[in-house]
Amino acid sequence: MIPLTFSLAVIFLLNIWTSGYATSCGANQTDINGLCCDLCPPGTYMKDFCTVNNPTVCSPCNEGYFSDKFIIFDRCQECQICQQEYAEKCTPTMNAKCSCRSGFLCSDNICSTCEENKCVTGEKVNKTAIPTGGGLVKYSYQCEPACADNTYFDVKEDKCKAFTQCSAFRLQERFPGNKTHNSVCSVYAGMQDSDSLQVIFGIGFVLLCFSLLVFVFHACTKNLRKHKANKNPILPVSTNISDFHLSKEESGIQLVIQDESKDCNTSGELYLGKETTH
Ligand SMILES: *[C@@H]1O[C@H](CO)[C@@H](O)[C@H](O)[C@H]1NC(C)=O
Repeated sequence: MIPLTFSLAVIFLLNIWTSGYATSCGANQTDINGLCCDLCPPGTYMKDFCTVNNPTVCSPCNEGYFSDKFIIFDRCQECQICQQEYAEKCTPTMNAKCSCRSGFLCSDNICSTCEENKCVTGEKVNKTAIPTGGGLVKYSYQCEPACADNTYFDVKEDKCKAFTQCSAFRLQERFPGNKTHNSVCSVYAGMQDSDSLQVIFGIGFVLLCFSLLVFVFHACTKNLRKHKANKNPILPVSTNISDFHLSKEESGIQLVIQDESKDCNTSGELYLGKETTH
């Protein structure tokens, strides 16, 4: 068995030798079979290695592939496919950048997938990064209150606001408030004895005024009616003899007389004569 430290030392030495050898080639060149070959620039891949007589042959990345650095590889990298949205489209020299719709959160630093934001109003997202090696950083999300103690999240104004202190207004607290709603103060429950007495007296006064008004109005209308009645008596004073007689006769006779009174209008004498015979 070769000890680990020994193999590490060999790798280290080899590294120095190769890098030392490579530095003899120019920038963006690499050693291939003892030849300094040009690397292929971003947006291309290496189709053919260079030879003694011919330089490196590079070819542009195909659709859906990209290369963002000088490479020796014989193909470009595949563009990332986004689950929900593209923040930036893939180009031959740059990979696509993914994003998530509102209400969703990226699962990692390259937004491989989107997960639903489960936080409700009045809560905010707390992100925890978990490195997994290979440059990928996974994200974990927790919901926590958006506002500090004694404050609530006002949705309309989109900010944290302090609870109303009911006691400061000499009011009683009916609802202490929660993460999204202000406290609710009660007007009547918070009254002192002196306050309620004042209210009772106030209501009493208003009632008294009202009944007084009703009484005065009633008295006035009654008076007015009486006054009118005196001006226009119900029974008109008549000088007609027939009327005078009518009021004195019995109902049965009245009918007869009323019939005859039509004749009587033409002749007073006739009427009187008939009446006496009855
Ligand atoms: C906060 O209080 C309001 C009003 O009483 C209520 O509708 C709401 O459900 C409460 N929210 C929470 C998270 O308790």
